[in-house]
Amino acid sequence: MKLIIVNGPNLNLLGKRENDIYGDESFLDFFERLQTKYPEIALSHFQSNIEGVLIDKLQEVGYAYDGIILNAAAYTHTSVGIGDVVKAISTPVVEVHISNTFAREDFRHTSFISPNAKGIILGFGLQSYELAVQSFLASK
Ligand code: DQA
Repeated sequence: MKLIIVNGPNLNLLGKRENDIYGDESFLDFFERLQTKYPEIALSHFQSNIEGVLIDKLQEVGYAYDGIILNAAAYTHTSVGIGDVVKAISTPVVEVHISNTFAREDFRHTSFISPNAKGIILGFGLQSYELAVQSFLASK
């Protein structure tokens, strides 16, 4: 099974960004643990702070992979383009957020991705990503 985690803006700062909300662990440390735990999955990751680069990546993997775990971060709430590409591609997308966006500011309650996501997992810290991996394993 081939899965990719696609992370949007500022998620390269995990571990040193608003630790009370996003925790102390860097994404790379977390990702290594995840890979070790699920050796049977070809798991990769990609991060960009740039909307168009994220769209290019989703187009590239969106017809070839078995699943995409997408945390579009702030673009979740603003990007018609990312919403459209999620609708266009054939690979299922699970939308993930580290924080419970519904417990935060009103502008985080809107998502351009959710209407076309296979499912949504949010509020479990970095474990949200692992739950998304498990969701793909469960529906294999
Ligand atoms: C986030 C939530 C977004 O509202 C925010 O802009 C992020 C991270 C999360 O994972 O909790 O950058 O997607």
